[in-house]
This record gives sequence, C-alpha cells and structure tokens, in this order.
Amino acid sequence: MPKLTLDGKEVEFKEGQTLIQVARENGIDIPHFCWHPELSVSGNCRMCLVDVEQIPKLVISCSTIATEGMVVETNSEKAVDARKAVLEFILINHPLDCPICDEAGECQLQEYAYAYSVGESRMTELKNHKPKRVELGPNVIYDAERCISCSRCIRFSREIAQEPQLTFVQRGDRVMVATFPGDSFDNPYSMNAIDICPVGALTSADFRFKSRVWEMSKTESICTGCSRGCNIEVWVRDNQIQRLKPRFNNDVNSYWMCDNGRLNTFKFVNADNRVDGAHIKNGEGFEKVDWEKALEFTAENLKKYKPEEIAFIGSAFATVEDNFVFNKMAKALGVKNIAYFDYVVSGSGDNILITEDKAPNALGAELVGIKNSNGEIERIFDDVKNKKIKAVYILEQSHDFDNGLLEALADAEFVAVHATNFGKLTENANVVFPAATYAEKNGTFVNFQGRVQRIKPAVATAELDRSLDGLSQSRWDKFGTEFDRWNQGKRYDAKSSWKILTMLSAYVGEKLRYNMAEDVFEELASKNEHFKNIDYDEIGDAGILLKNLNVEETV
Ligand code: SF4
Ligand code: SF4
Ligand code: FES
Repeated sequence: MPKLTLDGKEVEFKEGQTLIQVARENGIDIPHFCWHPELSVSGNCRMCLVDVEQIPKLVISCSTIATEGMVVETNSEKAVDARKAVLEFILINHPLDCPICDEAGECQLQEYAYAYSVGESRMTELKNHKPKRVELGPNVIYDAERCISCSRCIRFSREIAQEPQLTFVQRGDRVMVATFPGDSFDNPYSMNAIDICPVGALTSADFRFKSRVWEMSKTESICTGCSRGCNIEVWVRDNQIQRLKPRFNNDVNSYWMCDNGRLNTFKFVNADNRVDGAHIKNGEGFEKVDWEKALEFTAENLKKYKPEEIAFIGSAFATVEDNFVFNKMAKALGVKNIAYFDYVVSGSGDNILITEDKAPNALGAELVGIKNSNGEIERIFDDVKNKKIKAVYILEQSHDFDNGLLEALADAEFVAVHATNFGKLTENANVVFPAATYAEKNGTFVNFQGRVQRIKPAVATAELDRSLDGLSQSRWDKFGTEFDRWNQGKRYDAKSSWKILTMLSAYVGEKLRYNMAEDVFEELASKNEHFKNIDYDEIGDAGILLKNLNVEETV
C-alpha cells in the first residue's frame, strides 16, 4: 500500500483516496463544510485547506488525491491562519443568531467559530439581509441569511434523493438556494438535507423551535416505518419524543432515512389515545382494571375454549422476543391456528431505502415460527366468521390497521388484544393489554436483508421506572439507553408483550420465566438455527446478519 506522512506520522492509504479521507481513517477530522462522505466533491468552502510539502499554496484536502511520499500538515500555522480567514469571511454576513437557531449545539459553524474565530468582527458595514423563512417544501424551511452556500443540499437532492429540485440563484453575496418557481422541495427524503446542512439554514417544519439540542437525550433505535429498519436516534425531552434522526449504518441506510419514517412513526407514542394500564370491556366502553384482574379474566376465558377454537395472531410490528414468547404460549395451550399478516403495499417501494413491506419485523416473526403463507390468515378469518374459531388473541398491529380481521372479529366470542393505542382493533376486544411501544422497550427486529438489529428504550414507562430503580451502574450501562432517568413527563403503564405473556403464563398453568428481553433472546439463540450462538450484547450498533437464511425465500 502507498504511504504518506500525515502530521508527522507515516500512514497507509488506498489509491484514489483524497487527503480528507486518509485523515479521517487515521482519526484526524480536518475542518470542512461542503465535503460530505456520501456526496460528490464541490470544493467551494475552502475550510479544509492543508499544507503539503513542496506545494507553495495550501490545498483543499477534500479534492486533493493522496500520492506516495506526500508530507501533509493539517495544523501548520499557515493552514490554521487560512482556516481563520475563511471563517472570518463566512461570518461577514452570517447573522450569528445562535440563541434562536435550532442548529445551535450541533452546528459545524458554531463549533469551528469557537475553535478558530478571532472572537470579534473587523467589519463595520451592515450585514446583508435575505429571506429568513422560505418554505422550500412541506417539511423544510430555509433561512437564506444563515446559508453558507456549501451546496450540500443541492448535491443531496440530485445525487441521493435522485430528484434535482434545488439550485443556487443570484451571485456573490446575494446567492441563495431555491427551487424552480412553482416547484417544491418535496421528495420523500428531503429532510436529510436538514441533517447535512452544516449550519441552521435548513430547519424542520415539524421540529422547529420545539427544543434546544442540549435539553434532549438521544437513544439508538430502529425505524418501524418499513422493513428496511433504518438506524435512527430517538431524541426525547420530558419523556416525549421530539424528533427522529438517521444514524449511520453503511449496510442498511448509510446516513439517511425517509421523511415518512422520520415524521410518522413516533407521534403515537405520546398520543392521547395511548392504552394506559390494562382494560376490560364494560358495556360500550372500557374499564381500567389492575393487571391481576385482566390476566385472570383472560386466562379464564381462554380456558373455556378447545385449542382448535382459539387463534393467535402474531405481529410484524412486535419484536422477535414478543413473537417468540407469543408462539410459545400458543403452543403451550395447544393452539395450532397461528399466523401473522403482512403489511406489504405493492408499488410503494423505491430503489433508495423505502421497501414495500410497511412493517419492521415480518421476517423476525417468520423466523420464530409464525407464518403468513398458504392463505393461513385468510383461513383463520373465515373460521372466525363461521364460528369454528371463537377466541382470538392478537399481538400489536399497525395503527391504521384495516383488513379482513376487523370484520371477522365482530363474530368472535372472546378477543384479547395487546395494543399501544386504542383504535379500530380494540373496538371489538374484551380485554386490552397496554403494549409498550418500540420506543419504550428492549428487543430486536429482523430487517428484510436478514439483519437482526436492537431497539432500546428512549421513553420511560411506569414499568421501566420501577424495574430500573436501584439498578447498578454496570447494569444500567448494559441496558444501553441514554434516556434521562430523572426526566419529567407522563409515564404510561405499559409493558413489552413478552412480559405480559410471561405474566399471563402463571394464570394458564404454563410458567415462563423471563426477566428481560435478553433472557428471551438467549433462549432463542440456544434453540433456533438462524439465531444460533448470537450474543444479545454483541448485536451492537450495526446489527448482525443472520446465518442460514435464504432471504429470497422468506420475504
Ligand atoms: S442551505 Fe445549508 S446545505 Fe444548503 S447550501 Fe446553504 S448551508 Fe449548504
Ligand atoms: S425507509 Fe423505511 S425504515 Fe427507513 S426511514 Fe423510511 S420508513 Fe423508516
Ligand atoms: S470541505 Fe473542502 S472545500 Fe469545502
């Protein structure tokens, strides 16, 4: 491999790499605005200037190709002085409205200004004024005064979203980002431009002014909007989710997520219709009861029916652990009518990230033995309608759930549902158990590629608070969440479905003994060929591709 000297150290590099890439691989972050690892190089901000021996002028490291024997200084006096000059130039017209800017706290310009700015401006002229609230599209607001014309958003739109909707208009210090007159920046991935804008020029119409960055905690999780399972961060303040952001995973979603996943997969967590505590049907409505009563009521009703008169409907929205224990419970009761239904919407996918399967864990449900093939689910609907099946136990489903089962359920004698929110599905239920959402529990999903990925609690439930009370620091670290355990805000009395089923097992004469999602996964890893020998802790941030899997066959 060729070698060069970087800040006094000899390092190897691959042919064709630029200096900024070589530096990054060696733990040196050269300041930059316009360069982004997934976009083409535009070289317009000049922030990444470095000193190269035998080249009289500084060079921009984002477009200079590394060559054998180069001697590069990223922090020579000349390079640092140039960086200061570039910053002074950018700040000539920048409004410096950090106190009211959403980006403050995670702004590249702010960080570099602290590191390199001279502290005060030598300019006495008035700053240029430009439009401060331009609706570029339904989800993205543009502040032209804050824009540093790096063109990242323009390149993103063209190269990643594959819709060239943005361009620069005007010239010199009048330059601005704009859409073609009458057009809108409305592609399904537009909000990624907000993330990669190095300043606060692009802000989210949904999140704008809701919270300061430093007031929130962030927890690593997985988007539930489709079977891609984009890696995300869940940002929470006062126990309420404020925003989702994509998290880098080269094998799944790179730096991106779609706007639908970002905006429409978290608001149900703090919605008014959350199921808070166990409920039993009382006349037309529901009565909140204590857990023991609901569990006893459910067990008594299930015992009234022969196994062939009961159906268990698993879920592509619940975790691997939830479905595993659900399947185990069905088997313990001798129930053979077990299936799940998928949420595949033909034609709704694209060649970027979005898949046609709108549930995060259909493959996970399949792999633990719950199927949806051979018309099994339709057969179960028919048997409920013609009263061969009289009792139905349903695991968490989608909120806009609307399919043949709803109609069929009206004919069932007993319906038990695990639900996060009241809605159409709970209307026909006799008992509703409050299921913790993906943002409130530990567990795993398997995406369409066969990658098992972890979700972690970002929002506290009453149950989580109780179970974490007195947890040692090492267990707390292992638990893996960064949520603020002292945060304020509503805690719902909800539990993971595997936990509810574990509690129910004592009432139906089948003692399951799991304390944590990890215990369920360990059992799965000891028994199931696809999960064999996977350690829950080793799934890590990037997930693990399951073995012995023919994805073509299963999705
Ligand atoms: S809006 Fe942001 S990303 Fe786009 S050109 Fe301006 S500074 Fe760069
Ligand atoms: S592509 Fe799918 S998983 Fe990714 S953000 Fe969109 S809905 Fe979520
Ligand atoms: S990052 Fe190199 S010129 Fe902008």
